[in-house]
Amino acid sequence: MTETMPHPATSRRVVRPSQASVGETLQIATRVVVPTVAIGAVKRRPLMMALAERLQIDRSAIRLLQGLRRHHGSRPLRLAVPGRTIVLLLSPNDVGRVLAESPDTFTSDTVEKHAALGKFQPHGSLISRGRPRLERRRFNEAVLDQHRPLHRLALPMLARIDEECDRLAAEAADAGVLDWRRFERSWWRIVRRVVFGDAAADDQDTIAMLDALRRSGNWAYLSPGRVRVREALAERLSEHLAHAENGTLAAAIAREEHGTQVHPTDQVAHWLFAFDAAALALTRTFALLAVNRGHRQRARSELGAFAEGIPEELPYLRACVLESLRLWPTTPLLLRDTTVETRWGPETLPEGTSFVAYTPLFHRDDERLPFADRFAPEIWLDGTAAADPALVPFSGGPERCPGRNLVLFTVTSVLARLLRHGEYRLVSGRPLYTGRPEPATLNPFSLAFTPAANVTAA
Ligand code: HEM
Repeated sequence: MTETMPHPATSRRVVRPSQASVGETLQIATRVVVPTVAIGAVKRRPLMMALAERLQIDRSAIRLLQGLRRHHGSRPLRLAVPGRTIVLLLSPNDVGRVLAESPDTFTSDTVEKHAALGKFQPHGSLISRGRPRLERRRFNEAVLDQHRPLHRLALPMLARIDEECDRLAAEAADAGVLDWRRFERSWWRIVRRVVFGDAAADDQDTIAMLDALRRSGNWAYLSPGRVRVREALAERLSEHLAHAENGTLAAAIAREEHGTQVHPTDQVAHWLFAFDAAALALTRTFALLAVNRGHRQRARSELGAFAEGIPEELPYLRACVLESLRLWPTTPLLLRDTTVETRWGPETLPEGTSFVAYTPLFHRDDERLPFADRFAPEIWLDGTAAADPALVPFSGGPERCPGRNLVLFTVTSVLARLLRHGEYRLVSGRPLYTGRPEPATLNPFSLAFTPAANVTAA
């Protein structure tokens, strides 16, 4: 069913879009878009997340899109939306093309994202174009050490992470439970100490302001925005950056030359927002390791090869985190708008055409991936994931997340420290079982663990 022909610009084989009916478009709206927006695209809503888990909304969305693909073929599907050209991607290669040709042909600065993220980071890299975007992207790559598996400040970061994890493990042992509330509190202390320094460890106001703006971002252009809160947040972030402590990202910012278009506080607002996604990935990976003895033992034996207190790359633990992000991607909708008229097969799509990739379809596609619903960290180590252009929890191409290595380092360091402390059993939230298909939707807020009998470090 797939129609292919060479693309003049890239000489890749590409396909022309097909047309969804009004009924199909309405189904996509109600089973894919509305649930994704309802759980909170910018700040997750815990009650909606619990409902989403009960209804397993991702499964319903994946089944719908697989059905549409069987009916129309895997070419991009143009939705029946009046006044706009919106195209849904159904093939991994098409996702690969869109990401590879971003940001020149396809910009991440889409109408929706601009309205949502602009509430707290009006000069964010992701919602910029042209020269400002180039400068902001370069700044992010440089300060976050995008290309180094271990950030230049990994050592002081690890000391702070270990301290917070020791405290968390002690609290969990006293209380007999390690739940989301405790995870979240420790995580934000880690983030504030790593980004700003120890003096900011207890500054909950900054995150409270950011959360208020993110909640308004959930409503995108339907909410007027909260200018006073945004200004107060920018001022607070400037103060923190002005008092940069040694060994923090704020110190790295202070040393980084940048132009006037960069607006570091807006880039930092994005980092704090994105660190929240890392907390979700952390908790879900912790749950996967708690129920999968074999994987947990392999992670432990990896730790056993290294001394405590020294930053390490920990490839197997990294693969576990990446795998939890494949199973439950924290950015389920990748959106791009075309910046120019674009050839797609024999068709020319107008400038401003919106491309949508619903990542759970590609990550959990049991019609294509033998490991779709299984916890399979090995795919991140044996080249399987790298060969698939649509396994993209951190996006892909030139706009790939520049914080990827830093996130993987911070999250694996927390997991490593907790694993060294002992065993934890998953006692609450959706039950997960070794060897059974993983749920399509997993609510991280209801997960809770009890510390089991202590074991010696791996
Ligand atoms: C689990 C945690 C994270 C995941 C899954 C993740 C994933 C992503 C994805 C999918 C994008 C592209 C979004 C899009 O195209 O709409 C992105 C962009 C970005 N991420 Fe992350 N991210 C995470 C954490 C972080 C952290 C902690 C930082 C900074 C410390 C960060 C910095 C950035 C920046 C600056 C961009 C914009 C890149 C650009 O403008 O080209 N991310 N991230």
